[in-house]
Amino acid sequence: MAVTIKSDREIELMRESCKRLEYVHYELSKVIKPGISTMEINQIGDKLIREQGGIPNFLNYNGYPASICTSVNDEVVHGIPHKNRILQDGDIISLDAGLIYKGYHSDAARTHFVGNVSEEVKLLVERTKQSFFEGIKQAVAGNHLYDISNAIDDYISQFGYGIVEELVGHGIGTSLHEDPQIPNFRQHRRGLKLRPGMTLAVEPMINLGRCDVEWLDDDWTVVAEDGLPSAHYENTILITDGEPEILTLGHYEFE
Ligand code: MF3
Ligand code: CO
Repeated sequence: MAVTIKSDREIELMRESCKRLEYVHYELSKVIKPGISTMEINQIGDKLIREQGGIPNFLNYNGYPASICTSVNDEVVHGIPHKNRILQDGDIISLDAGLIYKGYHSDAARTHFVGNVSEEVKLLVERTKQSFFEGIKQAVAGNHLYDISNAIDDYISQFGYGIVEELVGHGIGTSLHEDPQIPNFRQHRRGLKLRPGMTLAVEPMINLGRCDVEWLDDDWTVVAEDGLPSAHYENTILITDGEPEILTLGHYEFE
């Protein structure tokens, strides 16, 4: 599938979709505390998405059984919510959520601290978030796609963390996953040229330990093979003539 360039009308709909998704994350950030189950988080998130006039795009995507991906500690992405998975003090949890509004998809992820988290793991989460911002500094028209990938890799590599290679960011629009794929690790080509009107989901997934991941028997949950914590941070962005517009950020004040 070709990379799509959105019209002004489509960009406006992407903005609306993404703003609603940011609100869902904003509300969800308030419920993260020791004692809540990942299923409760999913139920609250599903309700918020629908209250916003959205449709959860993850639910039933290739058979995925929930609206919010809840990935705890060594789970990298696509954790499945469960009523018996109760958050504990010191955990981290990545919430990945998306919705469809008037036919347009949004996608964003945040990793939250549950109570008191060790300094080492806090740094992992903060640096994963920062790697997104380092990456999108390169996301300007005229640059190439893999300038984003290389900037993420350059920033993360200094810490000795493992960059997950099996999962990547992606174009987004009338489908959740459009071309192009956006790796978070070094590429030896420049990739396609970035043009105004492209909408992209940039989503570094970073492991405290080694980069290797495996899939659990549920066929969804991706975990770090060495069992060490992993963080995820994602926004949907718009390529413009200048700085990229971060469509799922900036409407609500929160971490
Ligand atoms: N944000 C993820 C992605 O971009 C989650 C989608 S997977 C799903 O691929 F199955 F949960 F929908
Ligand atoms: Co995504």
